[in-house]
Amino acid sequence: MIDASTRLCCLIGHPVGHSVSPQMHNAAFNALGLNYVYLAFDIPPEMLVDAVRGLRALCAAGFNVTIPHKVAVMKLLDELDPSAERTGAVNTVVNNHGALRGYNTDLHGIRRVLEGRDLPLSMPALVIGAGGAARAAVAALIDLGFRRILIANRTLERGLALVEFARSLGASAEALDLEEGRRRAIKCGVVVNATPIGMYPDTGVTPLVAKEMRRGMIILDLVYNPPRTRLLEEAEKAGAVPISGLDVLVYQGAEAFRLWTNMDPPIEVMRRAVVKALEGYRRDDRR
Ligand SMILES: NC(=O)c1ccc[n+]([C@@H]2O[C@H](COP(=O)([O-])OP(=O)(O)OC[C@H]3O[C@@H](n4cnc5c(N)ncnc54)[C@H](OP(=O)(O)O)[C@@H]3O)[C@@H](O)[C@H]2O)c1
Repeated sequence: MIDASTRLCCLIGHPVGHSVSPQMHNAAFNALGLNYVYLAFDIPPEMLVDAVRGLRALCAAGFNVTIPHKVAVMKLLDELDPSAERTGAVNTVVNNHGALRGYNTDLHGIRRVLEGRDLPLSMPALVIGAGGAARAAVAALIDLGFRRILIANRTLERGLALVEFARSLGASAEALDLEEGRRRAIKCGVVVNATPIGMYPDTGVTPLVAKEMRRGMIILDLVYNPPRTRLLEEAEKAGAVPISGLDVLVYQGAEAFRLWTNMDPPIEVMRRAVVKALEGYRRDDRR
């Protein structure tokens, strides 16, 4: 029941039309009986400053930030958590009595799906892609103990920039083109796909096929729509360990929920809401 004391959380980005965060967070608020609501706002870059000022004035409890504002929002905040400083990007903001503090919960989500596994830390880790998600993946892999990072990207300059970033965090790193990345994958302990390759509706494509993988290696696909991508199917064929981007999405959202509410997030409720929302979007597209 929305009333005069309902707390506001939201997403700002451009575009936001296919985000599943409203379904995920509203399901979690309802499950715990919290008087919060989560909305999504499409904010073009020229309106970002006004949007953040507005959320501050409205005393929003917090907000998520997505493409293209994850870096630009940083200078509009009062404080940065180490997760944001470490990745150079913010995807979650918490309003602490008027002070806006930026976090990067993508870093938490990626770490969360990998930690506790038997990670082959003596082998290199391969990250495919060099955008914002790849940056969070590189930081997470180094946090978990990988010391050699390979970065395969379509555009070499962006790959080289990420190599510099990995080196600044103390790892050795190398930039490859996508072809060389495919060739070297089999010698890696973990591969993270941080490109949209395989994302709905182009679900037939994959950055790697089974013969380029090894039994027991970990294949994390950050693509979450569909939850089971062609890359993860190829990983299963090869006897590799497939991890879906859906898990990362849920864990990054769960961490934001915890930061806003100080409550333990209802993970399974959030996961079910995301799966249902993604199915709904795919059904609507087919109509
Ligand atoms: N599961 C989660 O919670 C989660 C969180 C964040 C992101 N993601 C997913 O991760 C992916 C990347 O997101 P992002 O925020 O990093 O995006 P981004 O900053 O726009 O970076 C996209 C990266 O993908 C590469 N790329 C794009 N299209 C490609 C293609 N057709 N072939 C080869 N490379 C291509 C780009 O290469 P260039 O440098 O050559 O342009 C760039 O390296 C998206 O699918 C996103 O949905 C998932």
